[in-house]
Amino acid sequence: MNCLYAKILDDLYYIGANDRQTPLFENMWPLPEGVSYNAYLIRDEKTALLDTVRINKVDGFIGKVLEVLEGRTLDYLVIHHMEPDHSGCIRDILELFPDLTFVGNKKTKTMLYDFLEITPDDNKFIEVKDGDTLDLGKRKLNFVMTPMVHWPESMVSYEPTDKVLFSQDIFGGFGTVDGAIFDDQADYNIFRSETRRYYSNIVGKYSMMAVKALDKLSKIDIDIICPVHGFVWRENPQTIIDDYKKWANHEVEDGVVITYGSMYGNTEAMADYLATFLAREGVKNIKVFDVSKTHASYILNEIWKYKCMILGSATYDNSVYPNMYNLLNVLRYNKLKNHIMGVFGSYGWSGGAVKQLTAFMEEGKFEKLETIVESRGTMHKEEENQLRKLAKEIATKLKEN
Ligand SMILES: Cc1cc2nc3c(=O)[nH]c(=O)nc-3n(C[C@H](O)[C@H](O)[C@H](O)COP(=O)(O)O)c2cc1C
Ligand SMILES: [Fe+2]
Ligand SMILES: [Fe+2]
Repeated sequence: MNCLYAKILDDLYYIGANDRQTPLFENMWPLPEGVSYNAYLIRDEKTALLDTVRINKVDGFIGKVLEVLEGRTLDYLVIHHMEPDHSGCIRDILELFPDLTFVGNKKTKTMLYDFLEITPDDNKFIEVKDGDTLDLGKRKLNFVMTPMVHWPESMVSYEPTDKVLFSQDIFGGFGTVDGAIFDDQADYNIFRSETRRYYSNIVGKYSMMAVKALDKLSKIDIDIICPVHGFVWRENPQTIIDDYKKWANHEVEDGVVITYGSMYGNTEAMADYLATFLAREGVKNIKVFDVSKTHASYILNEIWKYKCMILGSATYDNSVYPNMYNLLNVLRYNKLKNHIMGVFGSYGWSGGAVKQLTAFMEEGKFEKLETIVESRGTMHKEEENQLRKLAKEIATKLKEN
């Protein structure tokens, strides 16, 4: 039997693929620990494949589908989400089983043509709406629409007999499935940060929609969660539900993330001084990042976790340092909430970076820190005192919260 194959329950199988070759998810977010693409197969009076995997993993995937089907045909292909990391092998599956019937919603049908140029006959596409049911025999699938978490056609399905939720990207995470396919076979604490990084990088900007989806799902009695990335949750599904609720609701922990952009060290020194003063004020969980070195993916992940975000930048061509500009963009479309924010920076002649950082702070929904520290050239005694003042202000604000 293949690896990355597991019987979840009688006639319900996990078939997935680990991707350790693709360096960047969506060609943007680093994958040092890889990612898994999970699909599921139900063998009942009818057979149903729930999603596929990315095209680079087609060979092993088709083998697993055939193995689980044991010579039977495939009746249904349920598409929960059309992003190519899950729809990548649909064409290959259709070639093998040309008589299969697709199951998706109205938007899925359009996307099936838009992305794959597949136009199924009307009798080969079952269009489902919120609350619709697909009967497979002993088992059924109830569909729940979860629009914009994180694509318009995103939906989940629920199997009421065994209380299994097929949740597509929701409850997913980065990181390959390393032997342990189920949550009870591994220590989730090792994977939590990569799971939050997936949430913050991929789903985070749609947190308002995620809250709505999680509210809908909270009315369902769930024993097993089968997401399309990461573990199958059969022992403690509440763990991942609680984490996702926390992240979607912007619930943060005490701590400060200082991120700076610096060419020759002046702004960097300010970041280090601020961190030192914060520690002296008794603030725990201080993290300092160089925006040129640490990918925005990781900085965003830490900012999602901690209450206070401080940005510092050298001035570059009358403006904020370009790599910091990139981070500002990432933060801007993530519509951060529930954060304390402060800024600092350095310039040589007419400045610009701090002005831009301040404008960013003003436009967002932040609890703003009053002390703004700006040094001309290297940090002087006056800025040192200002940074000390800023550290006190941060410490006080954190205590108030
Ligand atoms: C390529 C380059 C462009 C700069 N552009 C400006 C500018 O437009 N306005 C300004 O006030 N300072 C400008 N500066 C000066 C820096 O902002 C100043 O030296 C600052 O202290 C550098 O901080 P750092 O040591 O953290 O890199 C520029 C410096 C460099 C190297
Ligand atoms: Fe997705
Ligand atoms: Fe995905």
